[in-house]
Parts: sequence; C-alpha cells; structure tokens
Amino acid sequence: GATATSCDTTTGPDADPTAATAAPGLRFPRDFGWGAATSAYQIEGAAKEDGRGESVWDTFSRTPGRTRNGDTGDVAADHYHRWAEDLDLMRDLGLRSYRFSISWPRIQADGTGLPNQRGLDFYRRLVDGLHERGIAPMVTLFHWDLPQSLEDAGGWENRDTAYRFADYADAVFRGLGDQVPVWLTVNEPKTVVQNGYLWGHHAPGRQDPEAAYLVAHHLQLAHGLAVRALRAGGSDARIGPALNLHPCYPADDSPGAAAATRLYDGYENRLYLDPILTGAYPADVLADLGEGSRMARGIADGDLEIISSPVDLLAVQYYTPIYVTADGGTTRRWSTSEADWQQIYPDGMYDVLTRVTRDYGPVPITVTENGLPCPDVLGPDGTVDDAGRVAFLRDHFAAAHRAIADGVPLESYHVWSLLDNFEWDQGYDQRWGLVYVDYATQRRVLKRSAHWYRGVIRDNGL
Ligand code: NOJ
Repeated sequence: GATATSCDTTTGPDADPTAATAAPGLRFPRDFGWGAATSAYQIEGAAKEDGRGESVWDTFSRTPGRTRNGDTGDVAADHYHRWAEDLDLMRDLGLRSYRFSISWPRIQADGTGLPNQRGLDFYRRLVDGLHERGIAPMVTLFHWDLPQSLEDAGGWENRDTAYRFADYADAVFRGLGDQVPVWLTVNEPKTVVQNGYLWGHHAPGRQDPEAAYLVAHHLQLAHGLAVRALRAGGSDARIGPALNLHPCYPADDSPGAAAATRLYDGYENRLYLDPILTGAYPADVLADLGEGSRMARGIADGDLEIISSPVDLLAVQYYTPIYVTADGGTTRRWSTSEADWQQIYPDGMYDVLTRVTRDYGPVPITVTENGLPCPDVLGPDGTVDDAGRVAFLRDHFAAAHRAIADGVPLESYHVWSLLDNFEWDQGYDQRWGLVYVDYATQRRVLKRSAHWYRGVIRDNGL
C-alpha cells in the first residue's frame, strides 16, 4: 500500500513485487562509471564567503514558511570547508565518477561580468583533488541557484538570462575546462518549470502556468547556448543536458487513460527531449498550450537550431513513475517513499532508458541521479542501517543492467546523493545520502548502503 515506507525492510521494497528483479551475479561493462551526485547549494554552505553573491534559493529559503523548519543552505553539509575530507570519502568508496554543480553566484555574484577568481579556485581545487584520487569530475553548470540579481531582472522569464548563462558557462569553461571531461548544462529544467513556476514550492515560488512554459523555453535556449559556447572555445570535453524523466503509464486500460497518458508524457518528457534531440517541440504539447501562449510567442526564429545543437551524451535522472487517469489526473500504484512524490518502481528505470534509446537513437547515456530518502538514524553503536536504500539501489541497478543488456549505451550511474543534504523545501529532514551527516558536528558516517555500494563498485556488479 501507499503508506508503507520503503526504508523498513519488512514493509518496504521487500514486500513490493517489483523488488524481485535483482538476480545475483550481474556484471556491468568494463570501466562502468560508478558514481555519486550532489549539488552546490545543497551541500556547500559558506553562503557569504569568498565573494559569493545571493541566489534565488537564499532568498526563498530565508522567507518564512517556504522550507520545512525554516531550513536554509547557509551551512548545509559545510562541504565548502570539508571538501578534502569528502574527496577522501569518495576515494574510500571507490567512486569512479563524481557529479557536482558549480554555484553561479560564486563565479558571478550578480550573474554578469568578470568571474570571481576565488570562486573558480574552489572548484579548481575540487577538480584537481578528484583527479589526484582517480575520480572523474562531471560538472553541472546550473543546479537551480540563479543569482538573485538576475531574478530581479526577470529571471528565467527574461530571455536575456539564457545569454547571461552562456557567458557564465564560458567563464567556467575557461577557468576549469581542460580538467573537466563531461559538462552538464541545466539540471532538471522540468523541476524549475513545475516546482518553481507551476506549483511554487521551489524558488522563485511562482504559480503562473504562462510564465512556466516560457521559462521552459528559455532554460532550453540556455542549454543550447552553453553547448555552443563550449564548442566555440574549442574544447573536446563532452556536454549534454540533465533531464529528469518520468515514465508515464495509463492508470487503467480505457482509451481515455491512454490518450491522457500520451499528453502527460508530452509535458513530462517530450517537451524536454524533443527540442534538444530532434529540433522540434512536441506538436501535441504546443497545441495544448495554445498558439497565443507566452511560450509559443517566445520562440524566436533560430531558437530550435540553437537548442538542438548536437550533444555528446544525455544525462537521465529517474526516481518515479506516473500513472495517469482518463481525466488527466494521476494515481498511485506502488509504495511511496519519504518523498510523497516518489513511488518505488525499479522497472521504470528500464523503461525510461530503453525508451530514450528506442525513440531518440543511440546517444550515450549517463544516469546522473537515482536514489531514495530514508528516515536514517545514527544508532548507539555508530552505524546507520538503511537496508531499504540498499534494496532500492540493488533493484534499480539490476534494471539498468537489463537495459544495458538490451542495447542501451549506458556508461555511468550516479547515486543521489553522496551526502545527506539540504533537500530544498524539505530542508534537512529528508536524508538521501549514502553518507550520513550529523549536522550538529558535521561528522560523516558511512551508512550501510555506502558499505554495500563500495562492494558493488569493487565487484563491478551485484
Ligand atoms: C533531483 C534534484 O536534482 C536534486 O537536487 C534533488 O535533491 C533530488 N532530485 C531529490 O529530490
């Protein structure tokens, strides 16, 4: 039932019929990029140091009532000061790849102008430290922390923000480019559109559908312009978008549910995949939005050529399926995690990966996020027993393995997250890490899942 929490092994995934997908003895391809992911605002803290400017998430989280317990990212996991210790943890786990993001307001406090050298230096140390430990850096340019000054000038509703993003990206490429093999442009544009502009529980906290889809277009334009900026700099690094894809299934076998599911899939997936990978927005979504929509009016000649600038890889983030009813609503089928939006369905990972390859061709894929929040507690013996997370990851790894066996060019997989961190509007209550963070002391403790993952990496499989 939907009330079971996935982190209790007696009622969670082990009671879930989908949990039986993992067979022992699964080997992954040689050099498979086992990794973990984080983002700047969620882990760094040091909100006022070394010339960092303010972002929309500083504003939002400091606004009373916006986050659980009024939590902010001011200190977070203090990674800005503890980065070396965190890199040692990664080496200890055997990670081959680490995905993190760069804080735009550390590089350009007001979102424009000359880059702040102290900001670049921090990321330079991080990237060098990763290489020293044999871990490949994978860098996200935008993980939601838009400089507040740009927000004040209209934020992502303002087309100019996409051009500001390209300038910022160019500054980062110049500062770090030769040491970063893979760049990701915009993290989960859909989440900005939905949480930030439709439902309003993420920064900037708007509830305005017309604005939302214009923002969708400008985020994609920003992506395309950043791809072009990288190429213009002559870099041979690889670059791609990071999209959270939600497989959509009809809730029943009525024709109405089938039709509603197609359109829902348009809004969840094709609205982001199609322009980048095929150079066109999905006709059904554009028609549904209407010719006079702000988005439709905001698409200038040549935009889709920019947006569809060739990418080298596609980063996929998978957390949950969506079941669509004939009236266009949604319903639940599987047990839900601590995150009320997440149903646990490992086969969805298989479906998403194989669908992308089937519908868009064999573009190399990296899974840049997948994970589970658990009510982790540090036991008196100093351990954290997150058996539910182990079961979740095992089943999702197995589903990814099946997708590879069926021809999906999947090259790496990053667990969300390396560390417990600031889960946006949910603050610090929701723990997603392989590594527990005791926020009172900032001590890190490897959870059972971290020990288990180390074994997966060592054996290159399950
Ligand atoms: C996706 C986001 O990219 C990340 O920031 C967030 O913490 C996870 N999902 C979990 O909700």
